[in-house]
Amino acid sequence: MVPVLTGIAATAILWLRQRRLTTRVERLGGAALETLLGAIDANDPVTGAHVRRVARYALALADAAGLSEHECHSVERVALFHDIGKIHEALFDVIHDHHALTPDERRAIRTHPRRGADVLEPLAAFYPDLTVGVLAHHERWNGRGYPRRLRGAQIPLAARIVAIADTFDAVTHSRRYRRGRSMEKGREVIAEGRGTEFDPELVDLFLSPPVQEHIETEMREASTVERSRTSQRAKHGEKVSAPDVSFRWRATTPSEAHELR
Ligand SMILES: [Fe+2]
Repeated sequence: MVPVLTGIAATAILWLRQRRLTTRVERLGGAALETLLGAIDANDPVTGAHVRRVARYALALADAAGLSEHECHSVERVALFHDIGKIHEALFDVIHDHHALTPDERRAIRTHPRRGADVLEPLAAFYPDLTVGVLAHHERWNGRGYPRRLRGAQIPLAARIVAIADTFDAVTHSRRYRRGRSMEKGREVIAEGRGTEFDPELVDLFLSPPVQEHIETEMREASTVERSRTSQRAKHGEKVSAPDVSFRWRATTPSEAHELR
């Protein structure tokens, strides 16, 4: 009887250790991604705020589409890092200029999905959907996007979701050279792209009243967070130490971090 109990105890200890290790590895991955997000902020806070809003809208759409928790994590990661290619030094001047883009600058900007996928390549073994999603976020349903001119369901689902969220944010939020327009205009642009630029089923879902209500709430929350970050920057210079929002992949909470030590 005693050897059996000892065996059970040993298995339980092994299982607990394994679980602890898995949790730590997952959180290490989360921390690595959070560091990357911090690098986007440090290079360009405007892009940092944009990718966070896009993540909020993309998750609202992913939830409404009935995606699993695992798929939602993947959508969120693609949304948060879709524009990481824009922090490449080759695009620095273009991104930070305050005028409308010239044709040459537009061509340069079109390299950002590929640059982003290259930056994220070392993470491909851990997050295989991330690089393909980032690479595809400017592909269009009718095959007229870039860089590979994928069409329809060839485009990864996360990239199709992010494309809608990204365009909606581009219309409704101010850019350096253009003022943001109304939510109504944002909806209009998405509706116009139904079946040409965007997946028609996802557009229908995005424009449905429950998802629009959710998006409106997310917009309000995002703007509250952005205001508070701006005032922190004003008080403490560029350094903002507290994380602004808790994303689903977020590494850990301070109390969990204590437990893990
Ligand atoms: Fe982009």
